[in-house]
Amino acid sequence: MGSGELPGHTMKNITCIEDLRTLARRRVPRAFFDYADSGSYNEETLRANRADLQAIKLRQRVLVDVSHRDLGTTIVGQKAAAPLILAPVGLTGMQHGNGEILAAQAADEAGIPFTLSTMSICSIEDVAEATGKPFWFQLYVIRDRDFSKDILERAQAAKCNTLVLTVDLQVLGQRHRDIKNGMTVPPEIRIKNIIDIATKPAWALSVLMGKRKTFGNLAGHVKGMGNINQLAQWTNQQFDPALNWKDVEWIKKLWPGKLVLKGILDVEDAKTAVKLGADAIVVSNHGGRQLDGAPSSIAALPKVADAVGSDVEVLFDGGIRTGADIMRALALGARACMIGRAYIYGLGAGGKAGVAKAIDILQKELSVTMALTGTNRIADVDRHVLVDGR
Ligand SMILES: Cc1cc2nc3c(=O)[nH]c(=O)nc-3n(C[C@H](O)[C@H](O)[C@H](O)COP(=O)(O)O)c2cc1C
Repeated sequence: MGSGELPGHTMKNITCIEDLRTLARRRVPRAFFDYADSGSYNEETLRANRADLQAIKLRQRVLVDVSHRDLGTTIVGQKAAAPLILAPVGLTGMQHGNGEILAAQAADEAGIPFTLSTMSICSIEDVAEATGKPFWFQLYVIRDRDFSKDILERAQAAKCNTLVLTVDLQVLGQRHRDIKNGMTVPPEIRIKNIIDIATKPAWALSVLMGKRKTFGNLAGHVKGMGNINQLAQWTNQQFDPALNWKDVEWIKKLWPGKLVLKGILDVEDAKTAVKLGADAIVVSNHGGRQLDGAPSSIAALPKVADAVGSDVEVLFDGGIRTGADIMRALALGARACMIGRAYIYGLGAGGKAGVAKAIDILQKELSVTMALTGTNRIADVDRHVLVDGR
């Protein structure tokens, strides 16, 4: 058993994503657990993501032969074992040493795409070296456009086939808990943090033994950036408030593979994304971490899907914690769902096995939800599976 992994009996008692969250809270230092768990400002949008999903009721159907259920689908033309994608999550390698590699391997084994964040700990090259199949790469366009060009070349060289361009982070939404916890990479040396880390030896060992302890994609690649310890300081300096649709055209010219625009909540923006030739969009409010007071992702989804769903693949994220949630999003027009925290909790709870567990839980729950709504195929899911969706 490698460091940070779970004994068999603990794994058996984990029955839902919330169990993984509880365990992650115990095993991951507070600054990093809170970093993943929290949302911006009052966390209104964070809460709305969950509350609005839970308010959607599924239509129970009986006596339909559901013995041949199939979760398989295609996402941007690629086969996937389920309508599920691991979302880009910054600092994944601080939830567990080599976190990005472990999550990519778990996704690979489950037959679903993994997306590597620009703000990852393991680099593009680290993940490529440790995985067999092409993965997706997520780009933040920063002020230094040469860096963006360079990192796209690196992603191509690493055989990434899909680029996820995140468009909802021109400035950073504040997360109060990050400031209070002194959340930096590596962790700020405060007595409180040292005591906390001392009580999480499996985490400390895994991170210590991990390939990297800082931003793997940036270290050594960003001009004038010798020391990038202060995350907030760096992001405030480097994220670009001047970013606009022209930059999307520029990226589109540079990137030969599939292009996914992530962070769209508005119909007008969705239409512009289609006009510029995006292969897919992700209806997303960044997991409630950016514009607090924005609608939940699930509230925005049907409007966007109705407007552009026949022109572009509509993906979804924000608040997915159960298979029933995936069903709700598919019913309202999503082709597939990205999950962020659901797998991050798994990683913090039990490394690669924890991520695999999170994926397995969601797949099994989705399969049962399909059965009890009388559904055999993902392609058959539409608003008819909802109580008031007829
Ligand atoms: C800890 C954390 C870090 C994130 N970092 C990134 C990132 O680097 N790039 C990005 O496009 N989205 C990032 N996101 C947003 C996720 O990709 C995704 O939109 C969100 O997590 C979905 O909501 P969920 O966590 O409720 O599933 C991050 C989310 C979390 C929770």
